[in-house]
Amino acid sequence: MQRLIIVGAGGFGRETAWLVEEINRAAVDAGGDAAYKLLGFLDDDAKLAGSVWGDVPVLGTVDRWREYTVASFVFAIADPGIKRRLAGEMAGVAFVTLVHPRAEVAPSAVLGEGCIVQAGCVVSTNVVLGAHAGLNPQCGIGHDATVGAYSTMYWNVSLAGFVQVGSGCLLGSKTCVIQGLRLGDGVRTGAGAVVIRDLPDGCTAVGVPAVYK
Ligand SMILES: CC(C)(COP(=O)(O)OP(=O)(O)OC[C@H]1O[C@@H](n2cnc3c(N)ncnc32)[C@H](O)[C@@H]1OP(=O)(O)O)[C@@H](O)C(=O)NCCC(=O)NCCS
Repeated sequence: MQRLIIVGAGGFGRETAWLVEEINRAAVDAGGDAAYKLLGFLDDDAKLAGSVWGDVPVLGTVDRWREYTVASFVFAIADPGIKRRLAGEMAGVAFVTLVHPRAEVAPSAVLGEGCIVQAGCVVSTNVVLGAHAGLNPQCGIGHDATVGAYSTMYWNVSLAGFVQVGSGCLLGSKTCVIQGLRLGDGVRTGAGAVVIRDLPDGCTAVGVPAVYK
């Protein structure tokens, strides 16, 4: 069993703990052993120190990762900038990629280290997810699409085929991107945005059709 620590104890962290439970349950139901022993969360929110979610404790602040030499980690953090910074600080540690047993991932898809693919996602053929990309539940990533490192898709994002999403992007719930578009690095989209044109680096686009200033 792999010892695992979730970095981030907020809502996304708790959902990731649930994801780990589901992965373990599926492995046991299939006659094998649980895949992960979840040691706990690390989080810089001082209010969370010493708290427990279910039977999973908050072990302390993120800088305590150094104390856990025989453990793997995953970032349960939406903010791409924080994921990028921590990945730099934690260079050399092992990160796991977590895929919910009820997500569909094509065999030809390539998932980078530290990715999270939550329940109900469909990751189609030839998709590439960069390191630490996070897909919240029910995202659909169309064939040949790419999602850059550290990018986060909130619930129910839909990328059509051949869409390219840059690194460090944050796409709001129910963002829909039509086929073949390119979203630059650091793009943010509002909840419910329908993207019908390429988006430049660093912009925030909202609405139907999505516009940026
Ligand atoms: C787009 C977003 C990132 C902007 O946040 P922000 O930088 O704090 O910006 P503001 O709230 O000040 O909004 C800026 C403008 O965009 C508009 N706007 C914000 N979100 C919008 C949305 N989803 N759709 C349409 N317009 C939106 C605001 O009305 C405002 O318009 P104005 O300049 O004409 O007054 C944020 O509103 C958003 O939608 N985030 C995604 C949230 C989400 O999906 N959460 C799911 C968690 S699981």
